[in-house]
Amino acid sequence: MQAALNRQVNAELYSGYLYLSMAANFERLGLKGAAQWMRAQQKEEQLHAMKLYEYVIDRGGTVVLDAIEQPPTTWDSALATFQEAYEHETKVTALINDLVDLAIAERDHATNSYLQWFVDEQVEEEASADEVVQKLKLAGEAGLFLVDQELGTRVHLFTLPITGTEAQA
Ligand SMILES: [Fe+2]
Ligand SMILES: [Fe+2]
Repeated sequence: MQAALNRQVNAELYSGYLYLSMAANFERLGLKGAAQWMRAQQKEEQLHAMKLYEYVIDRGGTVVLDAIEQPPTTWDSALATFQEAYEHETKVTALINDLVDLAIAERDHATNSYLQWFVDEQVEEEASADEVVQKLKLAGEAGLFLVDQELGTRVHLFTLPITGTEAQA
């Protein structure tokens, strides 16, 4: 189970690396909104990796970090990029399901329970990438500018300054 969780830490870090590469490509193309969306997604993947990292530590295990595979650097279009992001998320969902299967087979109830957060998270991950795919399909080339502006409104929690009300909460 520990080896499988370590592999998932690597898979999450790779996901972040893939999205950062997609962000870099969007920045090169001047699609600032899409780049920001991908930067936020990279942070999300970093959190996923750390969540697994902390779990392995909490269980008295050992985290072993492997080399992160090099992601692609260019994509044919904004639509193709988000389609690949969606496809990637479906693959990650399959990895999470395999982890759950292993936890059940090993009667590792604690790990099974912990992994349920990831099962739920993957529903959101697939939906959010697919939502952009559908928007880009509807917008077409002419609407890309507007979709890009909208994607630029995505703000990750880590980039928000702590306001008075949040600090009190
Ligand atoms: Fe993830
Ligand atoms: Fe993801």
